[in-house]
Amino acid sequence: MSKKCIITVLTALLVMALFLSGGTNVTAAAKRVSLSHTSVTLEKGENIQLELKNSDAKKVKWKSGNKSIATVKAGVVKAKKAGKTTIAAIYGGKKYKCRVTVKMNKQSGSTDFDLDSKTVTLNSGYEMPIIGLGTWTLSNEEAENSVYNALKTGMRLIDTARYYDCEKGVGKGLKKAINEGLVKREDVFITSKIYTDTYKSSVKEIDNSLKDLDVSYVDLMLIHEPGSDDKAVYKALEEAVEQGKVRSIGISNYYTKDALDEVLSFANITPAIIQNENHIYYQNEKLKKYAKKYGIVIESWYPFGGRGHTDENFNNETIAQLAKKYKKSSAQVILRWHLQAGYIAIPGSSNAKHIAENYDIFDFELSEEDMKKINSCDRQKRYEVW
Ligand SMILES: NC(=O)c1ccc[n+]([C@@H]2O[C@H](COP(=O)([O-])OP(=O)(O)OC[C@H]3O[C@@H](n4cnc5c(N)ncnc54)[C@H](OP(=O)(O)O)[C@@H]3O)[C@@H](O)[C@H]2O)c1
Repeated sequence: MSKKCIITVLTALLVMALFLSGGTNVTAAAKRVSLSHTSVTLEKGENIQLELKNSDAKKVKWKSGNKSIATVKAGVVKAKKAGKTTIAAIYGGKKYKCRVTVKMNKQSGSTDFDLDSKTVTLNSGYEMPIIGLGTWTLSNEEAENSVYNALKTGMRLIDTARYYDCEKGVGKGLKKAINEGLVKREDVFITSKIYTDTYKSSVKEIDNSLKDLDVSYVDLMLIHEPGSDDKAVYKALEEAVEQGKVRSIGISNYYTKDALDEVLSFANITPAIIQNENHIYYQNEKLKKYAKKYGIVIESWYPFGGRGHTDENFNNETIAQLAKKYKKSSAQVILRWHLQAGYIAIPGSSNAKHIAENYDIFDFELSEEDMKKINSCDRQKRYEVW
C-alpha cells in the first residue's frame, strides 16, 4: 500500500471514529452531509454526520478506494435513498476521499409527488410543498399580505427573488403568520433567487436575502438565470449549504439537457430544482425526463402563462370544458394538471380569493384521458425569451 493510500485510510478511519463517537467524546459540532454532497470541508476536530432520513437503510459502508474501512449498522445513520457517493474531506490542509455506499431494503427518493401530504422529497433530502405562492411584480406591501393570506389558507411554499425587490414584504408576512401562531418557521418553505455573476457578489447577495427576509436560512436558493460565471455562483451556493444558510440549491431558466449538463459538470451538490417557464402552451417533457435521472424536480413559473396571458390560458377550449366537467375553475384545472404532470406550481397573486382558490385543488383528480387532452395543448410556445 502506498504512503498516500495509508494516510487516506488512517484519516478516513479518524473521521469515522469521530463520527461513531457521537455526542459523548466529540464536543465539536458535526458537519451535516446529505447524499447529494460529494465533498465537504472539515475543520480539525469536526466529524461528519450523514444526514439521511429513511431508516430502511441496511448498512452504510465507508470505503477508501475499493477497501471497506468501516460499516455502520442501520439506526446509527438513517438513509434516504440507495446509492454511492464520494466524500472528499479536506483535513489538516490535505484532501482525502471517502466513498460511501448506502444499501437499502427498498428504493425511495424519487421525484414522484405525494398528493396527500402535498409535498415531494427533494434529492437533498428535504420535503418541498408542490403548490405555493409566486411574488413577482408584488410590492412589499402586497407581498406581505399575500404571504400572510397564503399561509393562512394552508399554502406552505413561497417563491421570491432578490430581483423582485419584495423580500422584506415576504419576511414581514411570514413573521406575522408566525406571531399569530399560524405556522412555525420550519413549516414554511421559502425559495429565493440570486442574480449575480461573481463568487463575491453571490456570497453578499445570499446574506442580503437572509437579511431582507429576516430568516436564518432559506429552504431553496436558485441561480435566477444562466450568467457569465455560473460555476462561481454555484460554489457560493454550495458553501452556503455547508454554512446552514441554504438548504437546497436550484437553477432557473435552464431549458436544455446541455444547459443542465454544464451545471452538473461543476456541481458538487446536484441541483434539487429547475424552475422554468412552463404552462399548457409550453411543456418541456424532454427536460423533465432527463432531470428525473438526477432526482431533479421541475417547478413551473408562469403556470397560468403570466400576467397579460391568463385569459388565453383560462379560456383555452380544453381547459374551459374540463372546468365545467369537474366543477372547478380554469385556474384550478390548470394547477391540478401541473401537479399531476409532476410540476411544482407557484401561481402569483395579490388577491386573497385567488390564493385560496389556487390551494383548493386537492378534492378532485383529472383522469388520464383528460391529462392527455391538456398535454396535447402544448405548442412549444414560450411567452418570454430569458
Ligand atoms: N425564475 C424566473 O425567472 C421567474 C419568472 C417569472 C415568474 N417567476 C415566479 O413564478 C411565479 C408565477 O408567475 P407569475 O406570477 O408571473 O404568473 P402566473 O402565476 O402565471 O399568473 C399570475 C396572474 O394570474 C392571476 N391569478 C392568480 N390566481 C388566479 C385565479 N385563481 N383566478 C384568476 N386569476 C388568477 C394573477 O392575478 P391576481 O393577482 O389578481 O390574482 C396574475 O395576474 C411568479 O410570481 C414568480 O414567483 C419566476
